[in-house]
Amino acid sequence: ALVGLSAILAPIVSTGVSAKETIDTYNWTREDVSNLSMNAHNTAPTINKDELIQITLDSYIWDTWPLQEKNGHQAVVNGFKIIFALSVPNDVLPGKRHDTAEIHYFFSKDGMSWESGGPVFKDGEALGSRQWAGSSIVHKDGKLQIFYTATGKKGETQLGYDQRIATATANIKTTNNSVTFEDWSTHEIILEADGEYYQTNEQTGPVESSYAFRDPYFFQDPKTGEEYLLFEGNSAGKLEDRSYKHEYIGSAAFRQNHVIPDGSKAFNGSVGIAKATNQSLSKFNLLPPLLEANYVNDELERPSVIVKGNKYYLFVKTHSEKFASGLNAPEGLYGFSSDSLFGGYQPLNESGLVIANPTDNPYQAYSWMVMSNGTVISFVNYVDVDGKDIYEIGEQSPEYQIEHFGGMLAPSLKISITRNGTKILHEKKQGFFR
Ligand code: FRU
Repeated sequence: ALVGLSAILAPIVSTGVSAKETIDTYNWTREDVSNLSMNAHNTAPTINKDELIQITLDSYIWDTWPLQEKNGHQAVVNGFKIIFALSVPNDVLPGKRHDTAEIHYFFSKDGMSWESGGPVFKDGEALGSRQWAGSSIVHKDGKLQIFYTATGKKGETQLGYDQRIATATANIKTTNNSVTFEDWSTHEIILEADGEYYQTNEQTGPVESSYAFRDPYFFQDPKTGEEYLLFEGNSAGKLEDRSYKHEYIGSAAFRQNHVIPDGSKAFNGSVGIAKATNQSLSKFNLLPPLLEANYVNDELERPSVIVKGNKYYLFVKTHSEKFASGLNAPEGLYGFSSDSLFGGYQPLNESGLVIANPTDNPYQAYSWMVMSNGTVISFVNYVDVDGKDIYEIGEQSPEYQIEHFGGMLAPSLKISITRNGTKILHEKKQGFFR
C-alpha cells in the first residue's frame, strides 16, 4: 500500500511547471515608460544631509532587508527585529564597495534604533568572492534561512562577475540584549542562470550591457501556499541572437511616432522566478520570467512581491542611466500589479513609477524595499551632487565620491497602494521599519 501511495504522490511533489504556472511574461514597454511624469504622489521629499544619522560609524551599508516571516511580515524573534545589509568598512571607496561587499546584521527592540551584530557569516564560509543582496526568513521551528547572491568565485585572483544564488540556515540565539546566529549549515548554490530563460555571464560577453542573476527574494503565495524565489535577471541569449518584437515597444499607434535609438537592443533586464520543489527550500525549478524590459531597461534590481486586496504587487528598483536611450525616467522604485502572480501585470500609475528621487537630489536614495505594512525602506546613496553625473565623476574623483556618499539607512517613506495606483503619504524617521 505504501508503494502505491508514493507512486500517486510522486508526480505531485516532483512537478516543476504545472498548468497553472504557465507564465505570461509581461513586457514593460517603451510606451509604458513614456507615460511617466513626476508629481507630488511619486516624488520623494529631498533628503537633508545635515539631519542624517548613521546606525554604524565605521562602515557603509546599502541594500537592506528585514528578517521576514514566510508571509512577508517582518519577524519578531524573542522581542527582536533583525535587519540584514550589504556592508564594507568606510575606508573603502563608495564606488568600489560592490567588490568586497559582505552581509552584516543589526537588531532592535523598537524597530527604529539598531544595534550592530557584525558580519552574518563566519570568515570564509559564504560562497562567492563577495556577497550581494538577498532575503531572510524565519521558519516555524525558529530557524533562520538566508538567500543571497554569491558573486565571483571564492579565492579568484581577478574580480569576476559570476552571480549565483546561494542559501544557508542557522539557529537564532537571543539574550536580553543580543542576537547571534549559530550552527550554520553548509552554504549551497541553489540557482544558476540557464541561458534559456535567463542570460548567462558567457552569453553577455563584452557588450555594453550588464549581466545579472542576483538578489533572490523569498515569496510564499498566500493563495496557493507555493514557495518561490524572485530574482533580477536578463533576457537570455547573446545580443545577436535576441530578436526585435513589436510588443517590446508598445501599441501600433505609439510605434508610429516613436524612434527606437540604436543600441536599445542591448537593454534586456528581467524579473525571474523559480519555484521551490522541497520543503527545506534548497531545490528550485527555474520558470520563465515574470517581466522583461527588452529595449527598455537593463537592470531591474531586487524584485519583490507583496499581496494586498487579492492583488499581487511586483516592485523593482532601477537607475536612470539603466533606461535605454530615448527614454527619460528617474532613479526610482517601479511597480506592477496583477490578479495573478504569473502574468497580466500592469504598470502602477500608468508608467510603473512609484517613488522617484527629487530632481534636485536625483541620486539621494536607492534600493527601496516595500514592506507589507506599506513602509518603504532604502539607503542614502549620493546626496547634493548639484546636477553632476555621479557615476562619471566618481571614476575620476574619489574625494567627491566620499564627500557625497551616504552609505546609511535613509528616512523611510509610507506609501498607500490602491488598485493600480500608489501615493507617497509621508516621510518617516531614518531606519524606521514600522
Ligand atoms: C543594488 C545592487 C544589487 C546588488 C548590490 C551589489 O543596489 O546593485 O542589485 O545585489 O547592489 O552591491
